[in-house]
Amino acid sequence: VILTQDDLKKIAAYKAVEYVESGMVLGLGTGSTAKHAVERIGELLRQGKLKDIVGIPTSKKTHEQALSLGIPLSDLDSHPVVDLAIDGADEVDPFLNLVKGRGGSLLREKMVEGACKKFIVIVDESKLVNYLGGSRLAMPVEVIQFCWKFTASRLQNLFHQSGCVAKLRTFPDTADPFVTDNGNFVVDLYFDRSIGDLKAASDSILQLPGVVEHGMFLDMATTVIVAGELGLTLKNK
Ligand code: A5P
Repeated sequence: VILTQDDLKKIAAYKAVEYVESGMVLGLGTGSTAKHAVERIGELLRQGKLKDIVGIPTSKKTHEQALSLGIPLSDLDSHPVVDLAIDGADEVDPFLNLVKGRGGSLLREKMVEGACKKFIVIVDESKLVNYLGGSRLAMPVEVIQFCWKFTASRLQNLFHQSGCVAKLRTFPDTADPFVTDNGNFVVDLYFDRSIGDLKAASDSILQLPGVVEHGMFLDMATTVIVAGELGLTLKNK
């Protein structure tokens, strides 16, 4: 049997859902991996194998999906403490630091996953990297629309030593800017070289007025479940 990348995502997602217990407040992630976990939670609720779950969605898309599956939903205002969140990631480094947000849901994800006691990240092995930002794929930053070019150029300048290029995220077909669930734009940062100290990078990005949040999730994941051709690996903090 040849497993597709989507099979691997599903295997990791189903494994994570084994940690869900009745009565939990659950952070519901966003993306093509997390959607398998949400689907599975819905199925177990329908079968009566899970009861009294409250889901806190991390995006409008996940909200819709969970609603269609009959998962009872709430938000952080009503449930400020989340027992467990399950979500995908774009990159995972050896210390379980993450890049997230290539799907654009980084802000709500960071709020929900920052409020949870346990955060299980589910990935296929293609997401494992030696260091964040080295994959030549986007490191997303959510910025307000007002003077986004100014903010983008300040972001690029911050990391000029890493050969940073900042690009507004647009839809490939129309070239219209991508707008987040929160009405903001996303500036994607691309690096030629390592960005060095991640905490320092995070602090300097967050200090720029106009920046709302970035996609580095440092020291947040408690477990990473990796699905590969040879099976499942669990990495714990
Ligand atoms: C959503 O904005 C992201 O943070 C996703 O969780 C992340 O991009 C992983 O998505 P996939 O599971 O689709 O790769």
